[in-house]
Amino acid sequence: MRGQAGSEALVIVHSWHHGNTRKVAEALARILGAEVRTPDRVDPATLGEYDLVGFGAGIDSGRHYRPILDLADRLPPGGGRRVFLFSTCGVPAAFARGEAFDRLVEANHAELRARLADRGYAIAGEFSCVGFNTNSFLKHFGGLNKGRPDAADLARAEDFARGLLAAPRGERLEPSRTTR
Ligand SMILES: Cc1cc2nc3c(=O)[nH]c(=O)nc-3n(C[C@H](O)[C@H](O)[C@H](O)COP(=O)(O)O)c2cc1C
Repeated sequence: MRGQAGSEALVIVHSWHHGNTRKVAEALARILGAEVRTPDRVDPATLGEYDLVGFGAGIDSGRHYRPILDLADRLPPGGGRRVFLFSTCGVPAAFARGEAFDRLVEANHAELRARLADRGYAIAGEFSCVGFNTNSFLKHFGGLNKGRPDAADLARAEDFARGLLAAPRGERLEPSRTTR
């Protein structure tokens, strides 16, 4: 689909726990004028048709969900094509601020970032926010981060997408512009 800057964008997301990351994907796609697809609906050979591709998922065991990591392994050489990463994670919202959160996101995204970079894709930016988490024992206490991502999280995701559209080709957005 044709985005605001006249480029073709695609947002790929795997989201199953509560649909948290799907909400972020849709907010990003609204701004980018992009289609949202799940990894099983993506033919890696066709990614060359897009100027910008986003890869996102919830976080499990400190990394993106497996279907997104597996997709990254099947991609053709990137040749410097612009991509971005996004996620939602289940840490308590009180810890999802400032540099501590930036460091956490840096770690959560490391595996997917490395796989994309190894294939020659240029990381244009990364976004993350917290999401409702009822994993394991948390379900017995009503879960963590109920209602997240909320309207403010999605507004930040939209700002991030605007930043991607505005960034000169090749520029990587700073963490402070991407994660909160
Ligand atoms: C099996 C499982 C493992 C998880 N592991 C982590 C983790 O290592 N770190 C974290 O911050 N959140 C973790 N979470 C929380 C999810 O990443 C979080 O709830 C996310 O928003 C779910 O996204 P989704 O609704 O798009 O699937 C885990 C959740 C599940 C169900």
